Amino acid sequence: MLKNLFRTKSLEQLKAKAEAPEHQLKKNLGTFDLTMFGIGAIIGAGIFSAIGTAAAGGLDGRPAAGPALVISVLIVAVACGFTALAYAEMASMIPVSGSAYTYAYATLGELMAWIIGWDLLLEYAVSNVAVAISWGDYTKSFLGNVLHVQVPGWLSMDPRTALMLPDGAATLTLSQKIQVLGQAKQGLVDGAATFTNWATLKDAPMVFGFPVAINLLAVVITVLITWLVYLGIKESARANAIMVVIKVAILLAVVGIGIKFIDTQNWVPFAPKGLMGIQAGAAIIFFAFIGFDAVSTTAEECKDPGRNLPRGILFSLGICTLIYAAVALVVTGMLKYTELGKHADPLAYIFTQHGLTGWAGVISFGAIIATTAALLVYQIGQPRIFMSMSRDGLLGPWFGKVSKKHGTPGNATFLTGCIVAIPAALLNISEVVELCNIGTLFAFSVVCAGVMILRVRRPETLRRFRMPWVWVTAPLGIIFCFWLAKGLPGVTWVRFFIWLVLGLLVYFVYGFRNSMLHDREEKA
Ligand code: ALA
Repeated sequence: MLKNLFRTKSLEQLKAKAEAPEHQLKKNLGTFDLTMFGIGAIIGAGIFSAIGTAAAGGLDGRPAAGPALVISVLIVAVACGFTALAYAEMASMIPVSGSAYTYAYATLGELMAWIIGWDLLLEYAVSNVAVAISWGDYTKSFLGNVLHVQVPGWLSMDPRTALMLPDGAATLTLSQKIQVLGQAKQGLVDGAATFTNWATLKDAPMVFGFPVAINLLAVVITVLITWLVYLGIKESARANAIMVVIKVAILLAVVGIGIKFIDTQNWVPFAPKGLMGIQAGAAIIFFAFIGFDAVSTTAEECKDPGRNLPRGILFSLGICTLIYAAVALVVTGMLKYTELGKHADPLAYIFTQHGLTGWAGVISFGAIIATTAALLVYQIGQPRIFMSMSRDGLLGPWFGKVSKKHGTPGNATFLTGCIVAIPAALLNISEVVELCNIGTLFAFSVVCAGVMILRVRRPETLRRFRMPWVWVTAPLGIIFCFWLAKGLPGVTWVRFFIWLVLGLLVYFVYGFRNSMLHDREEKA
């Protein structure tokens, strides 16, 4: 039994499967395309939305990074840099799509591969929940500020955010909040002084004493993207490149225009909550960096994977780091950091506060494009991970079924749509970001460990890219990931733990018995 849990897929098995004529994909991506693809996956809700809560701290008592957010950004860049080197070595050695899931299957065995595959749900599907919420927020602000169409608050906010209390207020349980809300609606208590989002709550229809609040915009975009992905619309390298140019141009405009509105007084105090704030900020802003690893999923479509993949991964990470550091410095200089967490569209809000409403509209538009592109990338990626796991027998054949008409994994695409749309309607963005971050940090540590394991087990295999000083950099990668994860609230750790236990249950009930490797061993 124990032997089975650690059964690995050999590098030869993995490569042979990818090189089989029926699985061959067109190899026409070069370093430039991969860098653009990486930037496309990286820039999204993180820099447009999560930056606000990272700078200002959370209403749940999470310490603020303040203007020192730029330090958080640089720390995350270093942590991701170590991991990026590990991904680059793995990708140059195992140029097979499937990313961390495949690497884990080759190094740590089936159980770990399953755990990573399950965990990648947090990186892909759960991150898309956050991206969809952010899309909804920016679309609402674009509709309101530019097109003067007001979306009612209760149709564009999740119930937890709607019932949020102001910073420092005594914490009430849900039933107490509902009770107070009832009194506020009757005018018996001051609703505006009690609830942060009273404007939303007072208009929300009540059902059995509960306020109706759902994020309809987030659901609408998820349904639309799911439908597109199901129809088989391919995100061509060119379409992606155009969206990347728009995203980068908007962020450069934020820096270029915003720099004139910096008041250095806003940078004082620089780190209001010291190292704790910097760590908590880093743990959140990490979300903005997720995506460089997605480059490795294109391994089978590269002209020269050994050269293109490491460069694509490292270049996209480097470029985004420079942009993010500049944005962090400028926005914390434009407005007091405490103001940044109050709105779900912080960049547009900052510009509105300086009277630059036209630019705020442009930023909202840019954020809508950026988040749409990020949604598409992950909404395409997740069903393919389900499909790989189904082909390996770890998930049922239903998950890998390809639609005859459209040539896409129809069932897995539909399922991904539901997994994203339902929580997007009901959850608060920072909780979702935190869960996604802890899952991704775990996957990153496993890839760092995997590089070291393969150096010992397969020293002779050709590596077109080698992680420099691997015995220092790979452990540092793991330590940094752990340090960042430590910056996340305890409740996120508990949720992650529950998630893993659920995953193990599914594996032992289904995957363990049905694995393709299991069949092979039985027959042997
Ligand atoms: N890095 C991606 C984003 O910020 C997940 O949306």
